[in-house]
Amino acid sequence: MMKKKAKIIVLATHNRDKIREFREKIGNSLQLKTLDDYPDLPEVSEDGNSIRENAYLKARAVHAFSGLPAIADDTGLEVDALNGAPGIYSSRFAGENASYRDNVLLLLERMNNIPQEQRSACFRTSIAYVDNQESWDVEGRVEGRILQEAKGEGGFGYDPVFFYEPLQKTFSELDLKEKNRISHRGKALDAFIHTLKIKKYL
Ligand code: IMP
Repeated sequence: MMKKKAKIIVLATHNRDKIREFREKIGNSLQLKTLDDYPDLPEVSEDGNSIRENAYLKARAVHAFSGLPAIADDTGLEVDALNGAPGIYSSRFAGENASYRDNVLLLLERMNNIPQEQRSACFRTSIAYVDNQESWDVEGRVEGRILQEAKGEGGFGYDPVFFYEPLQKTFSELDLKEKNRISHRGKALDAFIHTLKIKKYL
């Protein structure tokens, strides 16, 4: 039987953690490139109206530049009591160069008067795939509740205030393996890999 040639995919990120997580889930059956392989790629402005649009903007730009199949992800935290904010503005909620801490503090301030039972929120991740024949996307989400104050040391972004009821812990209190198993990004990645298998890419 002829051996299938490993397909090359470009991951539209420089983020080491995302690359490692992806690599861990797909094994060695795909050849992975990342944005580190394309230092001259012009900055892609993420000015879509949804995380899904932003994922497509990045994947399309990387595909156009590299000529290879490309995938990109985008994530947002959506708080029900804030009508879905910060959403697509999650990384720059407190301003263009805001730190994770600035964003968390602003979120807590905006939610100051909101009672416990109205603090529901979710993280959503979209992953978009684009090659010269097709484009498709998947989504992963996880429900939680925003605490009144930060708790835990691990993770990043809004993890210290995102409380996950089934484990009675914030995302900052989970170890990385545990978080990746249940998180928005972990679920989106599982759905993505499932689709790659159905399409016989893996
Ligand atoms: P990105 O699309 O992965 O860059 O995520 C956008 C923003 O969402 C980040 O800057 C973080 O503030 C937040 N974020 C994304 N993923 C997570 C997570 O797993 N935990 C907490 N915050 C996250």
